[in-house]
Parts: sequence; structure tokens; C-alpha cells
Amino acid sequence: KIPVWLDCDPGHDDAFAILLAAYHPSLSLLGISTVHGNSSLPHTTYNATSILTAIGRPQIPVYPGASSGLTRPAVHADAIHGESGLDGTSLLPIPAVPHVDEPAVQAMAAALLATPKDTAWIIATGALTNIAHLLTSYPDAAGHIKGLSIMGGAVGDGFTTAPLGTVDAKERIGNWSQWAEFNILVDPEAADFLFQHPALNKKTTLIPLDVTHLVLATKDVQSLLLNGKDGKAKTTLRVMLVELLLFFAKTYAEVFGITEGPPLHDPLAVAVVLDGIVDAEIPFYDFKEMGKRERYAVHVVTEGSHEDAQAGAETGRTIVKLLPEGEEGVKIPRGLDFGRFWSVLEDSLETADKL
Ligand code: BDR
Ligand code: CA
Repeated sequence: KIPVWLDCDPGHDDAFAILLAAYHPSLSLLGISTVHGNSSLPHTTYNATSILTAIGRPQIPVYPGASSGLTRPAVHADAIHGESGLDGTSLLPIPAVPHVDEPAVQAMAAALLATPKDTAWIIATGALTNIAHLLTSYPDAAGHIKGLSIMGGAVGDGFTTAPLGTVDAKERIGNWSQWAEFNILVDPEAADFLFQHPALNKKTTLIPLDVTHLVLATKDVQSLLLNGKDGKAKTTLRVMLVELLLFFAKTYAEVFGITEGPPLHDPLAVAVVLDGIVDAEIPFYDFKEMGKRERYAVHVVTEGSHEDAQAGAETGRTIVKLLPEGEEGVKIPRGLDFGRFWSVLEDSLETADKL
């Protein structure tokens, strides 16, 4: 099994990332760290423990991490996830096991250093503050990491050969500002530190909004998750998850006008670790054979405040540059096998149902 560590800010889509990481048969989830983001740290930490209880895995340890960015105050996404970070259902259980009172970065380092070199994956589905702290405080951890999978960023015309900055100024590529995606904007200094990290950047896979917006939890998906493949599952866990999904769908429709269903960003960063989902040969944009080998230099705009970003500045924008073939850098897939993704998520739910 592949050892994985999940750093998250649950968060409706983070909840599905927890489900997939906890139940996919090829993964061994070592622990979960929480970070500020969709809601405050106490909320995201409580939510992680509650979700683990709901899915029957309360023994997986949860450690609270950073409550604000490296240099910035926290910012929360109430409009999307509600004040608790997981609004929309009354079925969230009281956690059977509380979080562990040990700093997240210390626990993460201990878990990684106990794995053989170059084997473990870190999956990050929130702001990157904890991971930046980890690499600063425990530089040796880098040698134990096989891959870092990040849900974050928005690429836009960075995927094309057009010179950067030529994208139509009216075109919105971000979800928290015109340019910036939420996880990156919340702590752009942490994100840029990781993208420039000499040992880590070549082990990093980035799943940006450009990809997650191709994977919408449509009515068909909602019905699959509620009723299962045989059409009659409908357990309390499924009802709870679909209530969460419906809340997420409502806020996405209100805030972004996306009415087919919300993009389920975070479990895609878990799917990166699984064989054949993200590397599948799916044509997208001008993605051809080349797409599998594309590597990018990624730079995050760190000038300006959160308020500047809201006012239209590029703060938090991920600027990517395609590297010449053969050079090492960040991998940014352009598509994935959506059918297989939903089917693997449903399989995890089936396993959770049985416990
Ligand atoms: C990301 O931001 C959060 O609101 C979601 O949980 C996801 O990780 C999408 O931009
Ligand atoms: Ca998240």
C-alpha cells in the first residue's frame, strides 16, 4: 500500500477526499492534519474528526496545524462552505475520537520519517501553510516524500503557448478573485515556497481549477452516490454526504452560476496517487501524448494583500511556464479519466457502508 498523509480544511469537497484516502485499497492513510481555510482551524479540525467517525474510521489520527498563513491572517470561505465549513446537514456525528493534541507538523514529520525513503505521498487540499512549515522545520522529510499532490491554482492561458499576460482581462480564471484560486490565495507565500523548493517541486503534481471544473457532481453523480450502483444503498452516510453535496451545489450555483453541479475539487488530488486516473490519455485542450510529460515552472504572485486580490490585483495567481522537454518541474495534468474517478469514489463509499 502507498503511505499517504492528507492535509486538509474540511470543507465539503475535503470530506470526499478523506473518504477516498481512507478507503481506497491501494492507499494507507497515516494521518490527517488540518489547516485554516474553508473555516477556522477549530472548525476544520472538528469536521475532520466528525467525517472520520461518519465513515467508520475514527482511529485515523487528526492533528491540528496552522490557524493562519505564514505571514497573513486567515480568510474563510463562508459563502461556499457555510460558517462551520460543513454546513448543510444535521447528520454529522459527534466525533468518536477527538483530535490529537500534538502539533501537526511534528506528527507529519514523525510519520514520514518512519516510511522508507521516497515512498510516501502528501496530499494537500487546503492552504499550504502546514506543508511549508514541515519542509522548513524538518528538511529531511523531503527525502521520504515520493510525491506531493496539491489541489490549487488556476492556469488559464498558461496551458497554451500564448505569452503570459495576454489572457483577456475580462476572463475570470480564479475562484476567489479574478486570477487566484482559494487554496493558493489563502497562503501564497507558502505555495510559492513549495513551488520553488528544489527537492519538492519536481515531485509535485498540481490539480488546478482548470481540471477540477471538468469534474462536476451532476444529478447523475448525486444519484449514484445516494443510491449506489445497485440503486438501493441509501445509507445514513450516503444521505449525509449527498446533503453536503447539495449544499455545495447550491452555493456554487449562487456564487459562480455553475448550475450543472459543483466541481468536486479535492478528491482529485487523492486520485493523483492512484494508477491510471490522472495519467489516462484523455484529450483535452491540445493535450496529446506530450501532455503526460509536460513539466512546468510555477510562480505565485505574492505582492499585495487579500483585499488587493479581491479588488482585481493578481495576488495569489499561479503563473506557469512550460519547461523544455526533459527538464524537471511541476506536473500539471490537463485531464483525467472521469468515469473511473467517480467509480473509484463510489467503491470507497461501498466499502465504508459495510463497516
Ligand atoms: C478549493 O478551495 C476550497 O474551498 C475547496 O475545499 C478546495 O480545496 C477550491 O478552490
Ligand atoms: Ca479544501
